[in-house]
Amino acid sequence: EKGGWPSFMDKEIHEDPEAVANTLLGRFDDQGDIVLDEVHIGLDVFRQIDKIIVVACGTASYAGMVAKYAIEHWVRIPVEVELAHEFRYRDPILTPRTLVVAISQSGETMDTLMALRHAREQGSRVLAICNTQGASIPRESDAVLYTHAGPEIAVASTKAFVAQIVAAYLLGLYLAQVKGTMYRDEIRHILEQLKDMPQKIQWVLDNQAGNVEQAAKRMINAHSFLFLGRHVGYPVALEGALKLKEIAYTFTEGFAAGELKHGPIALVDAGEPVVVIVPSARGRNILHNKVISGIEEVKARGAFTIAVAELGDPDVEQYADVVFWRPVCPTLLSPLVDVVPLQLFAMDMAMLKGYDVDKPRNLAKSVTVE
Ligand code: M6R
Repeated sequence: EKGGWPSFMDKEIHEDPEAVANTLLGRFDDQGDIVLDEVHIGLDVFRQIDKIIVVACGTASYAGMVAKYAIEHWVRIPVEVELAHEFRYRDPILTPRTLVVAISQSGETMDTLMALRHAREQGSRVLAICNTQGASIPRESDAVLYTHAGPEIAVASTKAFVAQIVAAYLLGLYLAQVKGTMYRDEIRHILEQLKDMPQKIQWVLDNQAGNVEQAAKRMINAHSFLFLGRHVGYPVALEGALKLKEIAYTFTEGFAAGELKHGPIALVDAGEPVVVIVPSARGRNILHNKVISGIEEVKARGAFTIAVAELGDPDVEQYADVVFWRPVCPTLLSPLVDVVPLQLFAMDMAMLKGYDVDKPRNLAKSVTVE
């Protein structure tokens, strides 16, 4: 039940911190080693994995894109992310050393199920990241790593998304541990940082919700939005854009920030709202400056700019009309917090327009047809 919340979506966004904490729970031991006993794939098999292909649809595919950045960095093997409905029809290269990771909240998405069947027929192992115990996708996979987000009722996926990202991080750290691509201390350090993420998400919920609602009120009449992000901010931009189109029926497009001058900037006109995910400025992060100059460029063309940026960012207020703040956190883990104001923003926009945020038109919670 909604437990006093105006909508399931509102309740579920507020369960983001819990979804992250519960998905971490029981997946490490006292020494800080990752323990995935439930994943019944032998260590010898894991050691030989030389490529990962994530198959998923919609929001789950964006969790897969975040996973790509983290796992490639930690494990040094290529990670491809493929929309499940495209995968099977292009005759993908699959070997017994390929690990296919099927990400699905419902575990019943037909496109994803067909993709994993294809992968298994070709001799690859399939690991499901799923939120629903005993659903078809985990049943038909070689192994499953459950997300513990709890039942997700609203059609727009929110808490399941952050839980999927956490499960993918755990898989990456586990692979790094098994393959020896990282020192144990490094793995422990990242695990500690992951354990801090629920409270950082909570900070956003406690301190930014009012700010986000004000922004939604200001933009209620906007006809379209552009979302820009770079590195792990790119899948966050895509997810923010999907949320807004899905429940507020607003035309949105998400882009990699670097693409701006290769086309999308032509869309920017006076008053066009542009949402930008700004990477941390700490450590003289070169990406920070590049994204800031992207904001500068759209601002110069009259855009209304909304930034998601780190507290203490020295440059952002100069160019952004509105800032949604995130607490300081490691770049690879930042999607867990950066998506939260965008989930709230989509919900606020839909509510202000009087739409049913839990049951958007034309959409089903799980798409069980191809
Ligand atoms: O149940 P799944 O995770 O397999 O669903 C995949 C997509 O259909 C789903 O994420 C969809 O994009 C959501 N409605 C997004 O909010």
